Amino acid sequence: MCGIVGYLGPMNPKDVIVAGLKKLEYRGYDSAGVAILHQGKTKRVRAEGKLKALEEKLQAEPFDGHLGIGHTRWATHGGPSERNAHPHQVRGISLVHNGIIENYADIREALLARGAEISSDTDSELVAHLLAEEVEKTGSLLKSVQNILDRIHGAFSIVAMWDQDPETMVAFKDGPPLVVGLGDNQTFVVSDVQACLQYTKKFIYLDDREVVHVHKNKVQVYSAKGEPLTKKVVEVDWSEEAVEKQGHAHFMLKEIYEQPRSVAAAMEPHLDIDKFKVRLKRVGFNQPLERLEGLDIEADWQNTQKVLKGVERIFMIACGTSNYAAMVGKYLLEKIAKVPVETDIASEFRYRDPVLPPNTLVMTISQSGETADTLAAIRLAKEKGALTLSLCNVRGSSIDREAHGHLYMNSGPEIGVASTKAFTSTLTVLNCFAAAFGQIKGTISPGEEKTYVQALLATPSQLEGVLAYDKYFSETAEVLKTYKGFLYMGRGVSFPIAMEGALKLKELAYLHAEGYAAGEMKHGPLALIDERMAIIMLVPEDGLYEKSMSNLEEARARGGKIIALGTGEDEKLRRVSAEYLPLPKALWTVNPILSVVPLQLMAYHLADNLGYDVDQPRNLAKSVTVE
Ligand code: AGP
Repeated sequence: MCGIVGYLGPMNPKDVIVAGLKKLEYRGYDSAGVAILHQGKTKRVRAEGKLKALEEKLQAEPFDGHLGIGHTRWATHGGPSERNAHPHQVRGISLVHNGIIENYADIREALLARGAEISSDTDSELVAHLLAEEVEKTGSLLKSVQNILDRIHGAFSIVAMWDQDPETMVAFKDGPPLVVGLGDNQTFVVSDVQACLQYTKKFIYLDDREVVHVHKNKVQVYSAKGEPLTKKVVEVDWSEEAVEKQGHAHFMLKEIYEQPRSVAAAMEPHLDIDKFKVRLKRVGFNQPLERLEGLDIEADWQNTQKVLKGVERIFMIACGTSNYAAMVGKYLLEKIAKVPVETDIASEFRYRDPVLPPNTLVMTISQSGETADTLAAIRLAKEKGALTLSLCNVRGSSIDREAHGHLYMNSGPEIGVASTKAFTSTLTVLNCFAAAFGQIKGTISPGEEKTYVQALLATPSQLEGVLAYDKYFSETAEVLKTYKGFLYMGRGVSFPIAMEGALKLKELAYLHAEGYAAGEMKHGPLALIDERMAIIMLVPEDGLYEKSMSNLEEARARGGKIIALGTGEDEKLRRVSAEYLPLPKALWTVNPILSVVPLQLMAYHLADNLGYDVDQPRNLAKSVTVE
């Protein structure tokens, strides 16, 4: 997904925009550019490749203006090239765009019929043509944007400027996030708060089909119909250094090491530690998002209990890693709260016309809170009359704002495209949610609740110990990378962890890996196994230990190299494994939080050993804000 930085203020736009684009590099991109006012005209500089190439071109460029826009492009329409890089410029209009214009073909045809000279293969340039036509009639950038808004369909975030109006920037969105940063005597319009966090912590989150008009020091948001709106100013509490790597080689490794702290931060709001009780806080069912902070905690907990008491079925909807977290959630909720749970990937849920019986809760899980399929899923659930609950990591994100109820991963900004700390934070919150639900439904005793809480409280320090596998995998990666394939297997709550471990290896090291339910071996995967296959077996001490051991033996008998993760000093398991990785003894409910970390480190070190871009794997984006 692309990165956008717009700036109007007294500082040098080049410095502000390039620094902001650097903070957005994690989003994945293949070209970049800026358009900045200079001597009454908008000067544009673009470059294919990474920001370094753009900076080299900008080095000698002087700018005397105070208005500019910048962009890192993740190619959708039109391949990665300088001519397709943003900003796109048509006569006096310059603009940057994140997303896709679905009716671009009709727009292109109509423009060509009107004699437009189209210079790129992108859909974004077409919007610049429409604006250039309008502004020559209206003489106003704001009016021109309002006039074209209904003519473009799809998922878009756009920031535009006009060289005849050096004091104005106009932005609008429908889908991908766009946030207005309110600085002292300066304004930013960015895809992600991190792009300007060093200058301000005050933000306005634009909602779909809203238009923001920045003129000198004045910021006014309008509805699609042109009505002025009063928007809430949100204070973001992420410090600047939280976004930096803190000495690690990659954001991903920093985030893996953050997990003891982020897992603690995930559970902290919901645990009454001296009483070993779970009390979900600030869920705010049916409260406007901005009221969450001010909610009376006791009253909110009473309301949450009342609402959840009426829930008879849960659907958990997500994509990718978040879907594997949902799969763990299914085991937790069904075993602890005895409530039927169905999980589904959002891209299937949104198109299969799901049957949602009365008293259904649809819970979405999304780190970014902007995943297009998951956003569509929550909208569908609401259309079908279901109660919705969002578990995400970004307050004020699109999914967060559309849900009836709100839970947060609280893991801080996750920059690495491959999700790690957000995943374990999600598992932590799902533990709290399942225990709270069991308490509300009366399916667990106070003693059982205490057991779940104590298991959670022990997890952060247990994670500290598991991080020691960082060194182990940095040393074994050289051998591991010689295997032809990797089969990850587990039973029960370890099955989704097997799926997640395989996904990590696929998305980081580009190696063939599959996650499987260990009980499925005889139904096919056994044929895959020979001495060139690495078999990662999750065999924790839980009710399925003996079953998992026999699956391991089946794989071993066919020559597979067994890398087993087990509990404590398990001599029996160590004997039958080529590599044995002991994990701390823990309750089955938190085993997934512990067992996923060695798999994260394994994928990380294989990718690093192979020389791949760990934080920005090829072809992937941190948040898939388009279908
Ligand atoms: C995970 O490592 C991947 N980056 C991807 O599967 C991700 O989990 C998925 O795109 C969902 O993202 P979300 O949690 O932001 O909705």
